Amino acid sequence: MTPGRVGETERCAPLDFGKASLARLSDALLGGHDHYEADREAMRRLLAIAPGARAMAKEHRDWLVRVVRFLASNRGIDQFLDLGSGMPTAENTHQVAQRYNPEAKVVYVDNDPLVQVHGRVVLEENDLTHVSGADLTLPEVTLWDPVVTTYLDFTEPIALILCSIVHHIDDFERASRIVRTYVDALAPGSYLLLTHHFDPEEDSARQELARLLENTFQGTGLGSVHRRREQIESFFTGLELLPPGLCHLHEWWPDGPRLAPLSELNFLTLGGVARKP
Ligand SMILES: C[S@@+](CC[C@H](N)C(=O)[O-])C[C@H]1O[C@@H](n2cnc3c(N)ncnc32)[C@H](O)[C@@H]1O
Repeated sequence: MTPGRVGETERCAPLDFGKASLARLSDALLGGHDHYEADREAMRRLLAIAPGARAMAKEHRDWLVRVVRFLASNRGIDQFLDLGSGMPTAENTHQVAQRYNPEAKVVYVDNDPLVQVHGRVVLEENDLTHVSGADLTLPEVTLWDPVVTTYLDFTEPIALILCSIVHHIDDFERASRIVRTYVDALAPGSYLLLTHHFDPEEDSARQELARLLENTFQGTGLGSVHRRREQIESFFTGLELLPPGLCHLHEWWPDGPRLAPLSELNFLTLGGVARKP
């Protein structure tokens, strides 16, 4: 591995308003303002087959908030590397972590040009939060990106966040290699936070919906794949999954009684939090 060049982080995916982007689609689902017609069209197609998609985007953020709060307040984690972090929203990783530990450092990595432009304003709110435009699918480049190496200390524990991104890497072997390279770079006592679209093999109706969702994502130019439980579990190989293990996001230490109804999408996602021994 060779260190990345200074300025590497300024490179990002090309800006194309005619095609949907994952960052802008997520922003539209979360009720943000940074999206265009192609993104809204992708959202409409998604909502037509999965009306719970907006609630599920929020479910993902709520899960992340609960886990970051737990790690910052109970596990003393003060470094966070949020890969594929998305457009800034209501509760970003640094806002949650720094509420519990004002010294917590957060590096966001997202190669969407709008995240670079709009995101920096919110995400680089203070000296402890920084944004890199590195391509997360190139871990050797991302890990040596000057923003990452300047602000995070890899000899100390880091929480590595892969929230709603690994299912967009279509080849399983490639996805595994990418996750493994990041995990290998972490010090003992670090954590992996990962959520992933799930293929419920034992439930044919939900499996059918999973295929429909994949086709819809494909049709909008944004690939997505639902994987089997053991495939998702394998991303945590060698790590200690915290209870309750790999589960649906609403099952991971909810804040209280559930008030909103569950949608089918709740059962098509799994997430886990694991410690590197
Ligand atoms: C589905 S969104 C998830 C956002 C956020 N993690 C969440 O859970 O709300 C995926 C994000 O990953 C970013 N992304 C996709 N491919 C990427 C890549 N190769 N390198 C860096 N970021 C990427 C997209 O721009 C988008 O913001």
